Amino acid sequence: MCGIVGYIGTQAATDILLAGLEKLEYRGYDSAGIATIWEGDVHCVRAKGKLLNLRSKLEQIETPAQIGIGHTRWATHGKPEEYNAHPHMDTALRIAVVQNGIIENYRELREHLKGLGHEFSSETDTEVIPHLIAECLKHISENTVSASMFLEAVREAVSKLEGAFAVAAICADYPDELIVVRQQAPLVIGFGQGEFFCASDTPAIVTYTRAVLPLENGEIARLTPLGVEVYNFAGHRLKKYPRTLNWNPIMLEKQGFKHFMLKEIYEQSGVVRACLEAYFPASGETPVTLGLPEEFYADLEQIQIVACGTSWHAALVGKYLLEQLAEIPTQVQYASEFRYAPSPLTANTLTIGVTQSGETADTLAALSMEKERRQGKEAKYQARLLGITNRPESTLGQMVGNIINTHGGIEIGVAATKTFIAQLMAFYGLALNLAHCRQTIRAERLIEIIAGLRQLPAEIEAILETQERYIEQLVHDFAETKDFIFLGRGINFPIALEGALKLKEISYIHAEGYPAGEMKHGPIALLDVKVPVVAIAMPGSVYEKVISNAQEAKARDSRLIGVTSVNDGEAAEIFNDLIPVAEVEEILSPVLTVIPLQLLAYHIAARRGLDVDQPRNLAKSVTVE
Ligand code: AGP
Repeated sequence: MCGIVGYIGTQAATDILLAGLEKLEYRGYDSAGIATIWEGDVHCVRAKGKLLNLRSKLEQIETPAQIGIGHTRWATHGKPEEYNAHPHMDTALRIAVVQNGIIENYRELREHLKGLGHEFSSETDTEVIPHLIAECLKHISENTVSASMFLEAVREAVSKLEGAFAVAAICADYPDELIVVRQQAPLVIGFGQGEFFCASDTPAIVTYTRAVLPLENGEIARLTPLGVEVYNFAGHRLKKYPRTLNWNPIMLEKQGFKHFMLKEIYEQSGVVRACLEAYFPASGETPVTLGLPEEFYADLEQIQIVACGTSWHAALVGKYLLEQLAEIPTQVQYASEFRYAPSPLTANTLTIGVTQSGETADTLAALSMEKERRQGKEAKYQARLLGITNRPESTLGQMVGNIINTHGGIEIGVAATKTFIAQLMAFYGLALNLAHCRQTIRAERLIEIIAGLRQLPAEIEAILETQERYIEQLVHDFAETKDFIFLGRGINFPIALEGALKLKEISYIHAEGYPAGEMKHGPIALLDVKVPVVAIAMPGSVYEKVISNAQEAKARDSRLIGVTSVNDGEAAEIFNDLIPVAEVEEILSPVLTVIPLQLLAYHIAARRGLDVDQPRNLAKSVTVE
């Protein structure tokens, strides 16, 4: 959470910092601030709330600076007030710092620094950093062998910090230096012509350059107008080269859509096509190619998947596919639970981390714990790690050797939509690849499923074309609704969970996803005329069961909305509202059934006038525990 950005070069720093923060606002929007250096001083401007508040403050100030740092905050320590907004400064107001992460030992450091006469003005953990740097600067002698005293002071200061953090710091006494640090929180450096950038995430800098260098944990870099030097925390200079991103800035625009979320919902057919091309090439040697080494599958007995939120829902669909197609027992765990209560070690186990951002702290910690506890064990217990991510350049990409890239393209809306579909496609690829290698699927059946997958982009487009307007109208009836229930079974149970999560996070309506057969064991007591029920009823092994469960809900006066491909007399009689999707095999249906649920959540939130792309209290990537 939180986004940091930095600039040094020849252009007006304030404009570049604000443009960068706008692209990072998805990481938090409790407050924003920038610090720049001009006329020998650090000038810091901060504002509570969204970036536009900071923008309007800055309109009255002329800032000729060519160096600066900026921050958009998701509050962890201290209320979302201006006095807690970053950048934070030292007592002499010479040093400014922005940070993303958590400084675990900040209390001891703060007490110690107070004892030395430092004055604090916020409740944050970050504020200790500029004070520490100031203290270190005092003690560094002119004879210190280092490229720069400021770099040396920051290096010494961060060596005293415990926790996970990314930091950017500037100092009025070193106006040509921007120092950045990465320790378990993302930070990328951008290389321009005579100008350099840093940011928590690439969207903030891709307008200016596509040459980027993601820092690794334990690295510190000095950015000057002449170039970038990278060191490790021990002070040794490292040889590092930027890589080129194949992104273009247009991807970061709304392109005529009212919200990024709606644009991203519409991009889903393209995402499915990109995944089909990558995983199921029409003219390949094998029907499925994921680029994974063969030993991955050798003697495989079990799979365990760790993930959070929407990625956890995708993992539940993945479990269904891996068990039903590849016949491998698969467990799905919340990463935040797994890290403190892992399952006992089992032999020949593949551990998969699913995270669109590749930066979710709990998922990374669960994977790193798994790696550690399997270290030194005999071969069959050693860690086999796989990441499924939309950001191969992320921390996850650096942590695990093998990645399935989900090809979703950058997703800006805080509520995940197209990256969820992309994760589903990755699981189709993995399950079919495994089934093929383990010979648990007949060749004709494999070809049949792949042919079915190839139909999906057109069917997604058909749903968007025929149903969006209808759903937009339908939501008028839910202006006062306070609770929603989503029902599904089998492979569509995780879709019910996802439908409920989408609605909760952007519309703030209480919603629950339930396996339809479980309703009568308690939750059915919630139902009455005020609680609509959305039932996913696709033909297949559980269709009749879902229909009976839906009828039980209707008998309690709930309004029934059916997402189904069945449009017969029975369906028309049961469902008050029917959202048709194309008839596809049950096993492929989640890729279609989730689309109306995303649209439902979107239109309910948009109609209520809510901030769809930046819902309250949330951040796109949860980089703290
Ligand atoms: C999705 O709509 C949510 N914003 C959230 O649940 C998200 O899926 C979760 O935080 C996991 O993120 P990740 O995929 O980047 O790890």
